[in-house]
Amino acid sequence: MQFKFRIATKVFFGEGCLNKNKSEIAGFGKKCMIVTGRSSGKKSGALDDMTKALEELSIDYIIYDKIENNPSLENVADAGKIAREEKVDFIAGIGGGSPLDASKAVAVLAVNDIQPVELFNNAFDNRPLPIIAIPTTAGTGSEVTPYSILTRNDIKNKMSFGNDDIFPAVAFLDARYTESLPYSVTVDTAIDALSHAVEGYTNKRSTIMSDIFAVEAISVFGECLDNLLTNKIDYRIREKLLYMAMLGGMVISHTGTTIVHGLGYPLTYYKGIPHGRANGMLMAEYLKFNYEAIKDKADNILRLLRVGSLDEFGKIMKKLVNTELSLSEDEITLFASTGAKHRSVAQNPRDIAVSDMVSILKNVFKVW
Ligand SMILES: [Fe+2]
Repeated sequence: MQFKFRIATKVFFGEGCLNKNKSEIAGFGKKCMIVTGRSSGKKSGALDDMTKALEELSIDYIIYDKIENNPSLENVADAGKIAREEKVDFIAGIGGGSPLDASKAVAVLAVNDIQPVELFNNAFDNRPLPIIAIPTTAGTGSEVTPYSILTRNDIKNKMSFGNDDIFPAVAFLDARYTESLPYSVTVDTAIDALSHAVEGYTNKRSTIMSDIFAVEAISVFGECLDNLLTNKIDYRIREKLLYMAMLGGMVISHTGTTIVHGLGYPLTYYKGIPHGRANGMLMAEYLKFNYEAIKDKADNILRLLRVGSLDEFGKIMKKLVNTELSLSEDEITLFASTGAKHRSVAQNPRDIAVSDMVSILKNVFKVW
């Protein structure tokens, strides 16, 4: 039995946790840069809570609220330049995966005068600024991971960077911040969290420790499944989803993802499919392809979700993602070859070739 286990983030969970624990922020310095999207911070109430806490602590702050969905290198470079010029001491990321991942890049760029593409070297002369993460979706788990996923227009794909210094120092998880999410975003992000747990659990790098978190996350998703399907999502369910998403982040912090994410990224880049929804489209076929190699774990996933078979799981995912997509032969070839370059290929439970990825995509999508 061998494992390494480390989550370098101090997590506070529960209603009002930011206000109750704002003294945690006091030691990070005199000036904060809040990194957020155009609306999620404001709509969720998280931005107001954070600025109020900073004011009460007499900490100066600036707000950068121009983080795009699936932030590009250009986007984080712009924010990073401002952080450097303004000499901020720490970063607060508020939002879904996009602002949280962007805040990690900004934390590096604020103290390292490098080209944004050099983020992917994963080693920096100066230690990134401390990050406070406040998720307003229950999906990414980025608040407890050392990863930042950015869009690279130069290679036409999404790509992650990260090292142990990128873990947020503190995360405040308050399900009230997810209450303003529309139904589709709630579902898409919940599926992203489920995919983190499933991909981590079935991953070649899974350990006895990461499995504890994965099993719990999948089980909690199972408890929420009927509510997700019927759009009966109250505060109690939102808390469970936020908890589950955090667990999923803790899983992939140790295992990484698999080809579900590897094949999902080109679907997001080229077809604009939201990240979690792309994963949801692929998850059942991923489990089918790998079934013999992970039989016990795949059966356990179905049991934890209270689902009878992989076919039934596929139907449920289809209902949740509710998207028909047709791809051309050329697109399938391109997406499979892009997926094959993803680092997770080596972590897939079974050896997987480009031709297998073509088959997976053809089983999922209509081909024209
Ligand atoms: Fe993800």
